[in-house]
Amino acid sequence: MALTFTVQAECGMTKARAGLMKLPHCDVRTPVFMPVGTQGTMKGLLPDQLLALDCEIILGNTYHLGNRPGTQVLEKAGGLHKFMGWNKSLLTDSGGFQMVSLLKLAEITEEGVKFKSPYDGSEIMLTPEKSIEIQNCIGADIIMQLDDVVQTTFQDYDRIKEATERTSRWLDRCLKAHKRPEEQSIFPIVQGLLNSELRRKSAEDHMTKNVNGFAIGGLSGGEAKDDFWPMVSLGTEVLDRNRPRYLMGVGLAIDLVVCVALGVDMFDCVFPTRTARFGCALVNKGQLNLRHKKYLTDLNPIDKDCTCSTCKNYTRAYLHCIVSVETVACHLISVHNIAYQMRLMRTMRQNIINGTFVQFVKTFMKEVYPDLN
Ligand code: GUN
Ligand code: ZN
Repeated sequence: MALTFTVQAECGMTKARAGLMKLPHCDVRTPVFMPVGTQGTMKGLLPDQLLALDCEIILGNTYHLGNRPGTQVLEKAGGLHKFMGWNKSLLTDSGGFQMVSLLKLAEITEEGVKFKSPYDGSEIMLTPEKSIEIQNCIGADIIMQLDDVVQTTFQDYDRIKEATERTSRWLDRCLKAHKRPEEQSIFPIVQGLLNSELRRKSAEDHMTKNVNGFAIGGLSGGEAKDDFWPMVSLGTEVLDRNRPRYLMGVGLAIDLVVCVALGVDMFDCVFPTRTARFGCALVNKGQLNLRHKKYLTDLNPIDKDCTCSTCKNYTRAYLHCIVSVETVACHLISVHNIAYQMRLMRTMRQNIINGTFVQFVKTFMKEVYPDLN
């Protein structure tokens, strides 16, 4: 089996659950946050540092890896695990989302996503078959279907409907093109933006397929929480309890807590490492911008309760001093930020297992929103 998922504990009051996902490269304890390594490397972190942070699965992108090193080199290297020196689990996104969000020039037709290569300007057509071919070559434990993604601010009903239905058709093409089902699991992606009818239909369509898990997409564009959380809830209502559910592109602490409560098992987001590069360190209340001059005299660690190597060894004042001159600061803050995400997920998992998840959520919310009753 390329994936087995066991629910180990459920909250009871919420839809939160703790699970064990067995993948070809390693077991993954859920709920889990997956750091994003876009070009086959984690910006600001070494594989050994990720291991030290107890990281069991990271994300790569088909679109970037298909360009460089390209499938021939990856094949020769024996896949991305070997190429990048990462023996734990990997998940790859299918590429379409990256093209649509990075390159405004992408053109989507029934055949696939057409775009101009940012490397040499040539025209490239990414079809469902091509995406799976590249992902088979990369060799990640979990791979994603190619989906038709529309910008989240987009309101045109007909276009959203077309994209949602096309995503179902592309799923069939992806499943048919998949050459390594014994080693890699394809996840379908629920689309439908903020339209509950379309989203329900999308999830119901995917539920009829013989797959090992599901993703919820189209919700990483900074929508209002009141719009976005109900769509997640709808997704986890329809999607199977016995298979993992992955919410794509979401990683703010508040969203992680709410969406775990709504029954999501997996998350990814570039936010923790990206914000680190801007000198921002994650704490429960949000983030500390270490570039601010008030930190010049602050001899506390980023977070006194954090056990990461950055918090054990360095002060806010020190990080402030080096933040604008040294890439070392970016590394140190990235270590803390990934440690923060990992710890938050581990804490939630432990609380679900202990039967104290609801109390945890209340305490967390009180800390983030002290004025809330
Ligand atoms: N990453 C964040 N959101 C999405 C999505 O809707 N589709 C894909 N493929 N990747 C994503
Ligand atoms: Zn820390």
